Amino acid sequence: MSRMPAARDSASRRPPAAPRYTVVAGSPAHVPGIVACHAAAFPDQFMTLLGREFLAGYYRFYLSAPGAINCVAVGPDGTVLGFVSGGAPELRERFTREQVPRHAVPILLRAARDPRVRARLAVHARAALLGLGRRLGLKVPTPDEPPMDPPGTWSSLLSIAVRPDAGGQGIGSALMEAFRRASAQRGFRWMHLSVHNDNPAAIGLYRSSGWQVLLVTPGGTYFRRAVGA
Ligand SMILES: CC(C)(COP(=O)(O)OP(=O)(O)OC[C@H]1O[C@@H](n2cnc3c(N)ncnc32)[C@H](O)[C@@H]1OP(=O)(O)O)[C@@H](O)C(=O)NCCC(=O)NCCS
Repeated sequence: MSRMPAARDSASRRPPAAPRYTVVAGSPAHVPGIVACHAAAFPDQFMTLLGREFLAGYYRFYLSAPGAINCVAVGPDGTVLGFVSGGAPELRERFTREQVPRHAVPILLRAARDPRVRARLAVHARAALLGLGRRLGLKVPTPDEPPMDPPGTWSSLLSIAVRPDAGGQGIGSALMEAFRRASAQRGFRWMHLSVHNDNPAAIGLYRSSGWQVLLVTPGGTYFRRAVGA
């Protein structure tokens, strides 16, 4: 009579391991968890320095805007462990036009208190003025940017973050794959993103997820990937 080895016997009696996370489509109910995750993953980033209210407004906008793509990794107890957010690139300009004025007073109050906020606002103001100058046909410096695909053919991945205590478990890769699938479902053919050069974890994630470098500038590295598997 044959007998299974003892180790297999005990393994087959063990209940299956509970999944450590599930990736789902983001909804407005995820905003508090996404804000907490963003603040933990990007403690010194400009949007984090603008405060939780600003972050909540930003993600409320993205989680309800048509054309946005949001995927969330949740743990077994519903905690948001990570998220990815982006979608149609024109949403960024819409957010700036429609939402930023609503936060103008708190932003200026933060700027009065925090020199890091003032420094970042100065950079944004300069970029906005140069953009205006270009639209008016003035001879102003052109930023170093890669050639982009035709409008309507690509989605923009704006932010991806995993809680520091949940890193290194494959959540970032699973979110990249969810974003790719959602982009394909919306009919996009390409995905674009950019990242600061001093972020080796993110650059490693993008490379390992099949993204290709389009351009490296002192300001950042630009990546592109076809949505096809
Ligand atoms: C970048 C980030 C999302 C990666 O999430 P993660 O869940 O830890 O990533 P994964 O476990 O899926 O790892 C996937 C790949 O990313 C790369 N990677 C992840 N962490 C890394 C690190 N600390 N250093 C170098 N590469 C790293 C590796 O290539 C890894 O593949 P491997 O495990 O086969 O080596 C996470 O570190 C994070 O939230 N960082 C802060 C926020 C941020 O910078 N976001 C990107 C800018 S928008």
